This record gives sequence, C-alpha cells and structure tokens, in this order.
Amino acid sequence: IASQAAQKRGWHLYLVGGAVRDLLLAKEAAGDLMIKDIDLVVDGFHKTADVGAGVELAKELQQLYPAARLEIHGAFQTAALLWHNDPELDSLWVDIATARTEFYPYPAANPEVEASSIRQDLYRRDFTINAMALRLTPPRAGELLDFFGGLLDLQAKQIRVLHPNSFIEDPTRIYRGVRFAVRFGFEIEPQTEEFIRYAINSGVYDRTAQENSRTPALQTRLKAELKHILEAPYWKSALQLLDNLGALQCIHPTLKLDEEILRQLRLLERCLRRFDSQQTLIHWQMRLEALVIHLAPEYRGKVAQNLQLQEDSIARLKKFAQSFNQVMELLPSCQHPSQVVQLLRQYDLPMLILIALHSSRFLRQQIWYYLTVLANIQPILNGNDLKILGYKPGPQYRQILDDILAASLDKVIKNKVEAEEFLAK
Ligand code: CTP
Repeated sequence: IASQAAQKRGWHLYLVGGAVRDLLLAKEAAGDLMIKDIDLVVDGFHKTADVGAGVELAKELQQLYPAARLEIHGAFQTAALLWHNDPELDSLWVDIATARTEFYPYPAANPEVEASSIRQDLYRRDFTINAMALRLTPPRAGELLDFFGGLLDLQAKQIRVLHPNSFIEDPTRIYRGVRFAVRFGFEIEPQTEEFIRYAINSGVYDRTAQENSRTPALQTRLKAELKHILEAPYWKSALQLLDNLGALQCIHPTLKLDEEILRQLRLLERCLRRFDSQQTLIHWQMRLEALVIHLAPEYRGKVAQNLQLQEDSIARLKKFAQSFNQVMELLPSCQHPSQVVQLLRQYDLPMLILIALHSSRFLRQQIWYYLTVLANIQPILNGNDLKILGYKPGPQYRQILDDILAASLDKVIKNKVEAEEFLAK
C-alpha cells in the first residue's frame, strides 16, 4: 500500500537499513524473522522528490491505518507510524524518510552518484551490511540495491565501514559496529578496525566525553548505544570488544576493563538475580553504574551527567564514595542486628549492591544478611496494637515502633506478650 501511494506520485520507495540486513540474514540462515522496526526511504530518482515526501506518504498511510500513531520530525522531514500493542501487528515502528543527499558533506564521487539520491542516502550510512535497499516500487520491484558490497560482507560475516571518516563524524558508530559484530558473530574487518583505532587515537572520545555542552546529541546517542549493548544478552562480550578497541575511552579516557571490574560485574549479575527477581531495578543502568564507579571519585558525577543518566543514578554515583566510606567505617563495629539495620536502611537497594561489590567478603555477607533477612523483619506490634494498649496516636509512634523493632531484631523480645512487657518497662 505504501508502494502504491509512492508510485501514484511518481516516487520510488525503498526498504532500507536493518530490515534489509535482517531479511537477508534470515534468508541465509533459512531462519525465522520478526521485524519490529522498518525504515522506508522515498526517492524522486531523476526528478527530486519533494522534501516533505516522506511526511506526505506517512499521512496518507495513517488515514488508511487509523490505529497507527503518526509522529513528524520537522528537522529532517521524516515521519514515523507507530503501532503499539496492535492485535494484528503487535508493535511496529515504520520510519519514512525522504532520500537525503546533503546530510553528510561527502562530495559525490561521480555523476552517476549525483543522479541517484538513494545511492547517496545509502552512502551516508554506517556499515555496508546496513547500506542496502530493497526497491518496493515498479519497475524492478523486489530488486536489491547493493552499491557497496553489503551482501558479500553479510556472507563473509564482516562489519565494514563505508568511508574512512565515518567514526570521526559519528563516534557512536564504533559502539554500533561492536554491537553488530557481537550480535551476529561477525568480525570487524581489519581496515575498519584501523579506522576505529585511528578515530580513538585522534581523540574523538574527547568530543564525546568532555564537550558535553556542545555535543549533547552525541552524548544522547552514546547513552542509547550503551543502553542497547548493556541490556542485550551479549553485553559482556561487547564490553570486552569495546575495551580491546580502546573504545571505552568514549565514556572516559581512563576507563579500562581489568580483572577487578570483571569480577565486580560477575558479582553484580549474581546480586541482580538474587535481590531483584521482580526486575524493579534497571539492570543495564546498574551495569553502567558499576563501570562508572570504577573511575576515580572526582570523575563519576561528571560522566554520569554527561551521559544524561537518570537523576537518582547521578546522585548515587556522586554520593557513592561517601556512603561506601561510611559503611566501611561503621559496619565492622556493629555489635547487634539492630545497629546493622539502623546503619544500612538509609541506603537504597542499588547503593547497597554497589557498596557490596566493593566490600570485603565478610562485610558483603553482612550486607546480604541485611537484605535477605534483617530488612524483612517487621515490628511485633503495629500502630493498631499501640492504640489498643492505650498509646495516644502521634509522632512518638514511630519511635516506639522503632524501639520494638530493634528489640525484636536483637531477640530481646520474641512475641506480643514480651513486647507489651518491654513497653511497660
Ligand atoms: N544509521 C547510520 N548511522 C547511525 C545510526 C543509524 O548509518 N549512527 C543507519 C543504518 O543504515 C541503520 C539505519 O540507519 O541500518 C537504522 O538505524 P537503527 O534503527 O538504529 O539500526 P538498525 O540497523 O535497524 O539496527 P537494529 O536492528 O539494532 O535496530
């Protein structure tokens, strides 16, 4: 239907990017395919398509499919149709863009390139495997446009960049390349690896890590890529590959994976399984926090801010050193369970997990005991019991209930009768 709408206006319509790659990969592997994200490009071919062509097409489609939500992004005149929890389509995201020729300033290599804006549109993309298009409009509907050898690279399992400056212009492509390599079990092609190393050695990370105020969009994309990687099942191999390439420097110049951080990340996974079976914590963010805490204290807050992490995450990273030192100083001298509770209840679960990752085995076990046992113990009496016992409701209830809780934690009282006697004293 989209193709008919384009054809009627004399435009060409193409399926581009990840969907083409995934279609071809599924064909190679004769596997199943579930595409949730479709990128379409409208091209006027020899006559220039109106810059608003994508938007016009999306509007027409939305009238035919009123269940879809239409979003228009003004700056590049792109539109998206979103189906969310649709009974037939489940969730689907269709982006419709107009072939752009001047998004990246590459001089067209030859007249043929000049003539075909779809070719230029594909040329400004990241990797050959992501730079193929499938023509959806006649004549030759169904034809694969593969100007840069994407199909061969798919077959040879290679991640190959399209031009040497790609990573300098967009350092987040380093992360994308690693993500695709690990996800598909591909290799980063040697020359592409050289371009990555060149970009990193030429200080491209300074732009990402330090000039936040001038490059907020870059930081947003870096965060999105980190999220993508850290929530994927292959996150560990991806981090390892990023580290091998020196690309963790994009987060901070001093960030490196060493044995200690790898041990902490393994421990973190065990903690998340044990203490967050309900998945109330944001696991990718916890992994990122564990990485950032590995930096010297003075860098943590700045890196968290640059990456535009959530407020609570930024606050945790800024406060970590102080909280950690406090627990290290006071926890060893806690004689009674009530003192442990008094100390540790001022921290939230993510902070306690992060502190535990850095603690000695002995103190870590104390924190685990607090989280699994002590934190779940309730006072033997509640507010209602106090009312029945004749205590006037008021702010003193908090103190009384706290005293009862401390006494039950320390096994001074074991039941309601003993609790009442304890109060009478
Ligand atoms: N793209 C690019 N450079 C980027 C981001 C995206 O060239 N920094 C292009 C690629 O052609 C990519 C397409 O935009 O295929 C769509 O991007 P995106 O949806 O982020 O990625 P996909 O390739 O669809 O991969 P995924 O399956 O992970 O969504």
